[in-house]
Amino acid sequence: MPDERDRPPAGPFTIRGAVMHTPCLGGLERHQDAALEVAADGAVAALHPAGSEGFAAAVAAAARAGTLLALSPAHTLIPGFVDLHVHAPQWPQAGRALDLPLERWLQQYTFPLESRYADLDFARAVYDDLVGCLLANGTTSAVYFATIHEAPSLELARVCLRAGQRAFVGLVAMDDAAECPDFYRNADAAQAIAATRRHIDGVRDLPGNEAGLVRPIITPRFIPACTDALLHGLGRLAQETGCLVQTHCSESDWEHGFVAARTGRSDTASLDGFGLLRRHSILAHGNLIGDDDMDLIAGSGAAIAHCPISNVFFSDAVFPLHKALQRGLLVGLGTDLAGGYSPSVLDNARQAVLSARLLASGVDPDRDRSMRGQGDAARIGFREAFWLATAGGGDALGLPVGRFTQGSRFDAILLDADAPGSNIRLHPGESDDDRLQALFGATRANMAGVWVDGRRVAGTRA
Ligand code: GUN
Ligand code: FE
Repeated sequence: MPDERDRPPAGPFTIRGAVMHTPCLGGLERHQDAALEVAADGAVAALHPAGSEGFAAAVAAAARAGTLLALSPAHTLIPGFVDLHVHAPQWPQAGRALDLPLERWLQQYTFPLESRYADLDFARAVYDDLVGCLLANGTTSAVYFATIHEAPSLELARVCLRAGQRAFVGLVAMDDAAECPDFYRNADAAQAIAATRRHIDGVRDLPGNEAGLVRPIITPRFIPACTDALLHGLGRLAQETGCLVQTHCSESDWEHGFVAARTGRSDTASLDGFGLLRRHSILAHGNLIGDDDMDLIAGSGAAIAHCPISNVFFSDAVFPLHKALQRGLLVGLGTDLAGGYSPSVLDNARQAVLSARLLASGVDPDRDRSMRGQGDAARIGFREAFWLATAGGGDALGLPVGRFTQGSRFDAILLDADAPGSNIRLHPGESDDDRLQALFGATRANMAGVWVDGRRVAGTRA
């Protein structure tokens, strides 16, 4: 197997063709013809729309150097997707047992499955398969929960690095004997904190990871599974190491109520008290956060991983996405494999639009229309959903990815509408918004090329 250190440098190269991105929330920039220059270090050097100063020279220079990739009319270059919340070990149960409520799903299916990752060979096989699948679906950055097992969780980081995926990998911490089964929990808070410290060092020191493509992330599973000692200890560790934090927050009535009963406060306020609500902390779900919670999250610079498919099954309510964006929260998307059944961020972007639409219109036909939903203000549009899947996710993590602005890392997907098995048809002359909405129908069959940091890492075309 080739060593990741032997990989050739990324660029420089230039891609000429249709380019689309959402550099800011609500903004859509599409060029039917443009030249996107990628520098030798994998950064976006420039985006020249056809006819602009620099376009012809950039195309000519790349053609002379033999580094021009000319796209066909069926192609569109878009930023890679950011998945803010994936449980890597749950991949084997994707789509299963979603008829159960969260608390039974965890105890009957999830904890027994996750306990099997003590077996390093089993872990490596699943993680290899998952990371390849996510890259093929255009996920260029992923934020993973692994399990409580140290070597297998470090192996997930190694798999991401080898495959060339940008990733945050978390060793799960869960020590509360009242909520976690004997066969799957940390011995105590001190053991979990020491293991997390080793995981942080291990990921940072992986050979070939000098640029930090793969990073550790501190991962208390959720308040119900952790003692106060563990939560406080991990908050101190985040402060000391500067590592990002991820956890679940106000996901369902059961979970939200459990925390309120134990701490007398909301999840958000409790996490803040434990020192875990920090800049770029990733809070999964957040469906039941109130206005005060939103203010706390916005003020701290933490972010919500909105997981709209998983939420349909486990959340008991629709996340107030439009309101959160209006109040200035950082928000991106998560598949929440395997609470969510789909490995595709694009599927979740589409579901974000659908769920917001249902929140707006309401769902109970026995109620009068005026009483049924929150009203049209709760909707979100396709532009916003695309932004969440790309730049919104990048901003949530503080990473320069998700848009083709100069200096961003070149993480990108080449969509081919004419690929074998394509479900989408493009029509010449359609508006930017029509084209954007059409491309929401893309599947992995359309993903002809996927790049991370300027390196080609996946795609259906050789
Ligand atoms: N809360 C705590 N653990 C989990 C998990 O694995 N999945 C989801 N959806 N919620 C959780
Ligand atoms: Fe989750």
